[in-house]
Amino acid sequence: MGEHKRIGILTSGGDCAGLNAAIRAVVHRAVGTYNWEVMGIFRSTQGLMSRPPHAMLLDRNQVDTTLTLAGTMLGTTNRGNPFAFPLPDGTFSDRSSEIIEGYHQLGLDALIGIGGDGSLAILRKLAAQGGINLVGIPKTIDNDVGITERSIGFDTAVNIATEALDRLQFTAASHDRVMILEVMGRDAGHIAISAGIAGGAEIILIPEIPYTIENICRKIKERQDQGKNYSVVIVSEAVRTETGEVVESSVSFGERRYGGIGHYLAERICACSGAETRVTVLGHTQRGGTPSPLDRLTASAFGVAAVDLIAEGHYDQMVTWQNRQIVTVPITEAIGKYQAVDLNGTLVKTARGLGICLGD
Ligand code: F6P
Repeated sequence: MGEHKRIGILTSGGDCAGLNAAIRAVVHRAVGTYNWEVMGIFRSTQGLMSRPPHAMLLDRNQVDTTLTLAGTMLGTTNRGNPFAFPLPDGTFSDRSSEIIEGYHQLGLDALIGIGGDGSLAILRKLAAQGGINLVGIPKTIDNDVGITERSIGFDTAVNIATEALDRLQFTAASHDRVMILEVMGRDAGHIAISAGIAGGAEIILIPEIPYTIENICRKIKERQDQGKNYSVVIVSEAVRTETGEVVESSVSFGERRYGGIGHYLAERICACSGAETRVTVLGHTQRGGTPSPLDRLTASAFGVAAVDLIAEGHYDQMVTWQNRQIVTVPITEAIGKYQAVDLNGTLVKTARGLGICLGD
């Protein structure tokens, strides 16, 4: 059975569907198989900064009904890098030593961090500085973490975007309109290209492929000439204007977010094709909802494998999904390889093969 351990688990960065399934799997494996203790740490590293550290023991009863719940029962944050933590007076302070001390105060033998590339990079830096035995689990709706074919949350986000396209097709056809769906994904177009193909979009715009309004309108006109007076466009939030400007929307706590490219396109498409246009911005709905079976399954497999890594004493590693199975890689390797949409990959080829306009 091995020695008794007390491990911590936290979720970091933007939430997504499937995080609770991963927490559940970690608790079942650690408590059920190894008879260890699991401390759930609240609000990511902020829980370790609190005094006393903000955490609680998790038992199997607490996670029994969480498999199908979106969000994260531990809370999370995607603000406040602890190495340059924003203070109310506008200055920044390095709070890394408080986090490390929090980990040791809890008497933890290891920490499982569930995060995207940004969060995992921060956790890794903390681990190296403070002797934290870290194991990473990848999650992000953006699907941009390198090496792994799957990250928790992506599949659910694609399902939600696909369902939105399914709905837009009918209203587009009924009103002879061009409907534009703006989806998340930060700097990568994975959600847009996957949902765009699955949801039958006529035009898919992703940040990896430059476009012109002329090309988009040519496609719309081509369809009009065939008697199809409607079209559905899906666009990633990070797609820039035709002249290369970033389109940003909200500013909160000094941080900017992508948003608005759908409305930019709507005006120009209307002007050049004469089509009536409408815009739907899917926003944070892509992070909620019931986790898809695939996300639950991925999260469960990742959770079990992460605990097994700790049992084997393998740290600074991340679990990934490759060729139908879990493969363990050093965290640096995964976060060092940003995963954009592959321009020569199957999805781009499939879209082109279907006659979908990619704007180029
Ligand atoms: O990284 C996940 C993500 O949902 C991105 O797709 C999006 O750009 C961003 O987070 C939104 O962040 P926030 O929740 O801070 O608005």
